[in-house]
Parts: sequence; structure tokens; C-alpha cells
Amino acid sequence: MYFVPIDEKYYRMRADELDARISAAKDALGDRLVVLGHHYQHDDVIKFADYRGDSFKLSQMAAAQTEADYIVFCGVHFMAESADILSGPHQRVSLPDLKAGCHMADMADIDAVEECWADLMSVVGETVVPITYMNSAADLKAFVGRNQGAVCTSANARAILEWSFDQKRRVLFFPDEHLGRNVGWEMGVPLGSMILWDPDKPNGGNTPEAIEDSRIVLWKGNCPVHQLFNAKHVQRLREVFADIQVLVHPECKHEVVEQADLSGSTGFIVKTIEEAQPGSQWAIGTELHLVNRLAKEHPDKFIVSVDPNMCLCTTMNRIDRPHLAWVMENLVKGSVVNEIKVADDIAEWAIIALNRMLDIV
Ligand code: 13P
Ligand code: SF4
Repeated sequence: MYFVPIDEKYYRMRADELDARISAAKDALGDRLVVLGHHYQHDDVIKFADYRGDSFKLSQMAAAQTEADYIVFCGVHFMAESADILSGPHQRVSLPDLKAGCHMADMADIDAVEECWADLMSVVGETVVPITYMNSAADLKAFVGRNQGAVCTSANARAILEWSFDQKRRVLFFPDEHLGRNVGWEMGVPLGSMILWDPDKPNGGNTPEAIEDSRIVLWKGNCPVHQLFNAKHVQRLREVFADIQVLVHPECKHEVVEQADLSGSTGFIVKTIEEAQPGSQWAIGTELHLVNRLAKEHPDKFIVSVDPNMCLCTTMNRIDRPHLAWVMENLVKGSVVNEIKVADDIAEWAIIALNRMLDIV
């Protein structure tokens, strides 16, 4: 992967010209190209996606697209890395803007996780299954693959934790403390049996006794977007709208998930709204582009954000029309810009952990 700056001329083009260029490039590439788009993308980008989905569905799609030469991933870096690992060797994956990272994924790196692993081994030996959330770099997925663990997404975190507890007594879950805690709680793991691991402190800030008593070791990481929702937002909504149903992503803090009516992955949120009764009222706790799109697509239902002052995922939103047009027109010329290529020695282990994720649902 190497960085090529976008040709600035794309920023001087009008929206309708960019739309026309993207459509023309898509037509020219035909079946040789698949565009995958995450639900958090801008409306003006997601409309070009051949498949839209949450990170689980998009991984399935990347694995299933065996014919296309190119996969353009409208999402964030860890998703494009996973698409590269899951797609065939002849297929090339491009992320329209390489700066589209994920703040949560950046909160765990391989050195800190290996240090944590060694510390855990010295206290509780081989009793730990390492589970990484999809929102992590490929070398962390390789780490869990090498150590008999798995990747999960918010769509199958519970199934993966159940699988883990069939293997061993405890789980190291990274990098999202909230998803791990929320799913553990839903499964009946007491909150007191889930300890937080702060990578900046010796033994993660825990006594050996607390580590021995733990069932889930939660890495101290979070999504800065979802973490902004709090219990007061939910309470205020319920005061104003007596019949509102609160539907949140499990990356939200535990106090929010505990007070919500329903919690689940981005795909679950979309499906719940699609299947909801006309006239029903919903407050949704997830990224604002998706909430706004659901409100627009379902005018027969009342839909608001759990927090009206919610901010967007800035990294997801780096994928814009100019970058998409630039990447696609380069593909037409046979040039893959902003290619995401995971090194073979990482991919060979990461695919084991990703395939477990796809198999355990
Ligand atoms: P999903 O797994 O629900 O797509 O979530 C990915 C993500 O980054 C949410 O913030
Ligand atoms: Fe990462 Fe949060 Fe953005 Fe999802 S919403 S991509 S977890 S920063």
C-alpha cells in the first residue's frame, strides 16, 4: 500500500459531473468491479454501492465476489483489509481515501496486545481465548488466528463468546470494552467478572486475584462516536415521547444499552426499522448518516437520533464523491490507486480468525 494524492481537479467538479463520471466508470468496468458500501457512508456515496451492509455482511460479500477483478470499499481501513484477506489472490481492493481509518481500531496495537497476552499467561496460563472485534488492524486478527481465537462483529459477538467459553474459561476481548461488556452482560456474565485492561498500566491496572476471578478481560478502547450517547439522553426521550422505542448499537456505553429496548449491529438496526409497524416511534443510537437515511426511507415511522447533537463518524465520511470518481476512473485506465494489500505472513493467520467469524453465527 502506498499513498497517492488525489488529483485535485476532482474537487473542482460539480456534484452532477462527479455522479456522471462515477456512473460511466461503473458501466465501463461492468462485472470486473464490485462496490461495497457500509451503512454509515454518505448518501451520495452509498448510492453507488452494489452491496450495502454492516461489517459482517460486507465481509460475506467480499468473500463471495470471486469473479470481480476490483473491489472498491466505501467504508474504513479495517474493513478494506478484511476484504483483501477474504477475496481471491487475483482481486485488488481499493479504499478511496486511505485516511478513512477507525479511532477505535487505533486504540489497540500488536505490541500492547502481545504484552497484555504475556501478562495474562503469567497469571492464569492457557485459560484465555483472544477475541478481536472486526474493528482492528489485520495484524491483530493474525494474532488471534495464531492463538486459537476468532474475529467477531457486532452481528455475531454473542455466538463467538459462547464458542469461546466452550474452549476455555475466559476471554480477552479487544479493542471495544463496551461491546464486550454489553454482550457478556446479555449472556449473564456478572459485571464484576468483567475486568478492564488499561494497556498503560502494569497488569492492565488489575490485581492477580482480579485477573484470576475474571471471565472477560475488556480492553480499554471505545468508539468515540457511540460513546457519546448516555443514559440521560434516553431518559429525556422517554419523558417527551411516551411510546418511543430505543434501538442502539452495542458500541454504546452499558448504561445506554441497559436502558434501551433493543440493541444490535448496524444490520440489525436496519432490519428492525424495515420490519417495524407504520406509525411506530424510534430513537436510534448509532452514526447519524444511517439514522437520517432510515428516517428518510421510512417516512411512515417516526425516527430520531438518541442524541440530536450527535456527531458523525468523521473517518467513515472521508469517502466522498471526488475520491470515488478518482479511484474509479483510474481503474478504467487499469491503475489501482489506494490499494489495500495485507502482507502474506499476516493474511495467512488472519484468514483463520476471519473464517471462524464467518462460520460462527
Ligand atoms: P457494524 O459491525 O455494525 O457494521 O459496525 C461497524 C462499526 O464500525 C460501528 O461503529
Ligand atoms: Fe470506528 Fe466508531 Fe467510526 Fe465505527 S463509528 S468506524 S467504530 S470510529
